[in-house]
Amino acid sequence: MTSPSLSVRIGALELRNPVLTASGTYGLGHEFAEIADLGEIGGVVGKTVTMTERIGNPPPRTFETAGGMLNSIGLMNPGWDGFVADVLPKVRALPCPFILNVAGKSEDEFVELSRRSRGLRGVAALELNLSCPNVAGGLDFSKDTAAARRIVAQCVAASGLPLLAKLSPNVEDVVPIAVACQEGGASAVSLVNTYLGTAIDWRRRRTVFARGIAGLSGPAIKPMALLAVLRVARAVDVPVVGIGGIASATDVLEYLVAGATAVQVGTACFLDPCAPVRIAQDLRALLAREGVADVHELIGAAHPGGGGAQK
Ligand code: FUM
Repeated sequence: MTSPSLSVRIGALELRNPVLTASGTYGLGHEFAEIADLGEIGGVVGKTVTMTERIGNPPPRTFETAGGMLNSIGLMNPGWDGFVADVLPKVRALPCPFILNVAGKSEDEFVELSRRSRGLRGVAALELNLSCPNVAGGLDFSKDTAAARRIVAQCVAASGLPLLAKLSPNVEDVVPIAVACQEGGASAVSLVNTYLGTAIDWRRRRTVFARGIAGLSGPAIKPMALLAVLRVARAVDVPVVGIGGIASATDVLEYLVAGATAVQVGTACFLDPCAPVRIAQDLRALLAREGVADVHELIGAAHPGGGGAQK
């Protein structure tokens, strides 16, 4: 059995395989380096970094649901200065590429964070979080095609890095937003962020979360996220990074056949921090067993003329 080729590209960034961690589910990566062999995965996408430190939303911040999880973290993070001083030296030691996820409160902040990322050793690519449902205005940037195109174009120019735009499913139609990001020069679009949801504590006669709403992730959203990937992959030429309920190598292959070039493992990391490593190893073994020599044979195979395409 020969070993299949798993490497994929996102713009100038080459990944050893298509399995990434999803932002917000794996800290800033270095926290897990001692227990999981991160040299086995394609890369780590860090928790969103904002311009200034954020303490996040009041607890509770997570809630288990049937087949999934709600979260309302509120972008807790050390802010740019804390990231550079305390985290960057550690992510530089990771045995895989680190993708820095950033969010601004305004277009200017997105651009400034991108400018600061330019040439930063240890940062292989940038993911713009245009889609956080848990902070005021967090969804504004992925609801408006003109704004998404403009922010992406400015951030590409400011950062000089491969840039992924992370999109929300909580919009009328994610397809034109993804197309706008491509027009702005994004190297890839990541989809989907969490679906809006809530949980009720009926004994207390109130919502579980202080903000009322939260974001739903995990296996419960996989069919909807797969549909978003299928539809967007049909409409754009840049790579699509699939996110939503990925917990096994089979899940990864479903996303790839739907048109994703890479995937992000999120909620599964809360159950098992080694899940991304296990999934990447299982993916190699499964493709070898099936006689697939190159993962590109499967990417987009569900589309007419698909499979074998190198995005
Ligand atoms: O609340 C949070 O920090 C979630 C962020 C996100 O979904 O982008």
